[in-house]
Amino acid sequence: RAGLATRRLGRVVEYRETVGSTNDLAKEMARQGAPEGLLVLAEQQTAGKGRLGRSWTTPPGAAIAMSLVLRPDLPPHAAPRITLAAAVAVTEAVREAAGVAAGIKWPNDVQVNGRKLCGILTEMEAEMDRVAFVVLGIGLNVTLRREQMDPSFRETATSLALEGAPPVRRAALVQAILARFEAVYDELLGDRFDRVLDRWRALSVTLGQAVRALGLDGQPVLEGVAEEVDQEGALLVRDGAGQVHRVVSGEVSLRPA
Ligand code: ATP
Ligand code: BTN
Repeated sequence: RAGLATRRLGRVVEYRETVGSTNDLAKEMARQGAPEGLLVLAEQQTAGKGRLGRSWTTPPGAAIAMSLVLRPDLPPHAAPRITLAAAVAVTEAVREAAGVAAGIKWPNDVQVNGRKLCGILTEMEAEMDRVAFVVLGIGLNVTLRREQMDPSFRETATSLALEGAPPVRRAALVQAILARFEAVYDELLGDRFDRVLDRWRALSVTLGQAVRALGLDGQPVLEGVAEEVDQEGALLVRDGAGQVHRVVSGEVSLRPA
């Protein structure tokens, strides 16, 4: 906690050696009234979760597994902005603190050379038409080695060590991520999400690319060029006929076309 540059995020930490999923623990604590800023950290997850019900691997000591409880005063439809803001914070922190050329694959993957370095999973609970809480989960591969990866993602994943980054303390990285996230989160809450989006665009590896969107069943639903991201964090894709489609995260998986 020494060296923490934030005002309200990560001031209270729930640290566990082993946990099923830091997101699940943070959600439980949020339901019991945990305040904004509570940070759950774990050395190891035994049931880490990815998007769309997939699993996420976190071997002991090889990664950062963190979940933040947030209580933004936002309507539920604006909550995806938090995911984009988090991707900006992680990517900038990784570039600065670890010197790795990371970029953002829409909406929430932090990649290096096309391989996934970090995944972000935001889960929300709403009451009426307001957000009750959001749990922002970040999984970042630090020293993860190929042998520790399941063959199913060995070719698509990477870690800071595999990308040749000099050793960096995980605590320092967590602090860097929190400091940057607090700043972008404040902009978002202050109606300055446009500034966050500018930074997102600058780091995006998706915009300008030919992409294929796969539906939840893995079938292609759309192909075209990713042109823009809107205020809600949706991706605008222009198909071959010139028509623009709005793609919402949570409904599709994006692949290079
Ligand atoms: P999308 O493009 O929709 O984000 P994805 O293929 O990246 O899809 P996600 O749901 O974002 O999938 O991430 C979960 C997937 O990541 C898992 O299915 C698994 O293949 C892979 N995975 C699991 N653990 C790790 C890890 N530690 N690092 C990198 N990839 C992982
Ligand atoms: C993705 O599918 O890309 C998202 C992966 C998110 C993984 C992180 S690790 C910390 C937190 N706890 C979880 O169970 N998932 C997130």
